[in-house]
Amino acid sequence: MKQYRIAVVVGSLRKESFNRKLADAVAKLAPPDFSFHQVQIGDLPLYNQDDDANPAEAVKRLKREITASQGLLFVTAEYNRSIPGVLKNAIDHASRPYGQSAWAGKPAGVLGVSVGPTGTSLAQQHLRNVLSYLDVPALGQPEVFLQAKDELFDEAGGIGPASRKFLQDWMDRYVAWVKKHAA
Ligand SMILES: Cc1cc2nc3c(=O)[nH]c(=O)nc-3n(C[C@H](O)[C@H](O)[C@H](O)COP(=O)(O)O)c2cc1C
Repeated sequence: MKQYRIAVVVGSLRKESFNRKLADAVAKLAPPDFSFHQVQIGDLPLYNQDDDANPAEAVKRLKREITASQGLLFVTAEYNRSIPGVLKNAIDHASRPYGQSAWAGKPAGVLGVSVGPTGTSLAQQHLRNVLSYLDVPALGQPEVFLQAKDELFDEAGGIGPASRKFLQDWMDRYVAWVKKHAA
């Protein structure tokens, strides 16, 4: 059975990040031929085009991990109605040097949870704009805008009963999307 390795990019560095918990919980809904691996972005330097010819080890690692994956999953916080700078920094790093983007053609999903009721919708819209430019086909529906509430996760760190069917449906669509678009 073909295996699908998914690189998960969490748009928050916070230790108790709801988005990291969401990434962990949603991975439990995946079938056995899918495995999810969170990539580290907190140790990346600030992107500087002068470094393109001699990238830091953390940048090479990020590009290796993206290149080795068959799909992408972005699970992001919303900061000031857009994507957090740490996420944009990671995206910029792996998009360069020009013509050597690691992102191009990798099928993606976009999820997010925020404390506010708009559930990262504006951040996701901005992220989709960036992904579109980078030639990343992103699953359009269903959109997943979650608000952090006590019942979102169960005691075992899975998705709680109120959102489980919705997110299982999302996962089923995501799996089909990755299989359709993966190289
Ligand atoms: C700098 C900053 C800006 C924020 N801006 C927004 C925002 O625009 N919309 C929103 O719903 N929440 C906003 N929040 C609150 C986040 O939803 C909340 O901090 C959330 O826990 C972040 O996700 P995380 O738990 O994965 O770190 C902001 C938080 C910070 C620190």
